[in-house]
Amino acid sequence: MTDSDAGTTGALDSAFRADVLRGLQSHPRAIPARWLYDHAGSGLFEDITDLPEYYPTRTERGLLEAHCPEVAEIAGTGHAVVEFGSGSSVKTPILLRAVKPAVYVPIDISGEFLRESNAVLAKDFPDLDISPVEADFMHPVEMPEAAQKLPRIGFFPGSTIGNMVPRTGVDLLRRMRENLGEGALLLIGMDRVKDEEILVPAYDDSAGVTADFNLNLIDRINREIGGDMPREKFRHRAVWNASHSRIEMHIEALEPVDFTVGGERFHMEAGETIHTENSHKFAPRDQRLLLRAAGWEPIREWTDEKGWFSLILAEATPQRFAP
Ligand code: AVJ
Repeated sequence: MTDSDAGTTGALDSAFRADVLRGLQSHPRAIPARWLYDHAGSGLFEDITDLPEYYPTRTERGLLEAHCPEVAEIAGTGHAVVEFGSGSSVKTPILLRAVKPAVYVPIDISGEFLRESNAVLAKDFPDLDISPVEADFMHPVEMPEAAQKLPRIGFFPGSTIGNMVPRTGVDLLRRMRENLGEGALLLIGMDRVKDEEILVPAYDDSAGVTADFNLNLIDRINREIGGDMPREKFRHRAVWNASHSRIEMHIEALEPVDFTVGGERFHMEAGETIHTENSHKFAPRDQRLLLRAAGWEPIREWTDEKGWFSLILAEATPQRFAP
């Protein structure tokens, strides 16, 4: 889900431009979250994962450490582990160490991120067959030769699924099921609904790192598509949308502001916002329903003491013809 700014292809540049212009013209204004993750944005997200208020990363890491051995017991040996998104140097090794797969297949749209994270992994797992695939996993992905005949375990940590509205999330989970095949397992991290007093600070931290992460989009717009958005006239907002059960990140105008982006003029009133990211939070039943809607049957669920985050192991079940 990351894309880099260095050496981007022309296609990516024009997709960014098209999304930004369309997003700024729509009402409510909204820009797809993927554009937050340029090189600077990805670095700031890494910083977020260390913040005291941002519980998801460390909670999920604890769950992986505690339960990956059980995943290995259930799955058995000789698998291909297929990770959706370039692997995290912290989370991926926990799973690989427990499951000891025959092949590891990271799938990411950015070849650069794939190469970076694989170089790190290859050092720690010198005997592991790493077969990366540069592809958009929203589309059919052909498994590399080495993984063709092996049973598969998909890995989708970080509650990245929460970035998507349910409709898109179900599309993605179905696509994963098609890409992985019947009988495959999926290990997925999903963030839970909890008090707003915990959720909002996790997305609006006291050190202002999340604000920098969000407002970095303004710098990227100005730099990459020629804009003069005055960053100081905007602020970061994190709001809990109870009806959609999600945290929303917005960029809010502090005063009436006029600016130009890519040759187009825009005006925003004070208090008007640009919606930049959703982070859906799930109740236990929501999690199961989302998975089942996409053909995945949960077979194990683990959560931490506080019930803040959960790790679910699901199985690609055959379609039933009767109840
Ligand atoms: C990378 C999508 C899982 O939604 O918690 C963190 C992104 N945005 N703080 C999340 C994010 C602001 C993160 N995900």
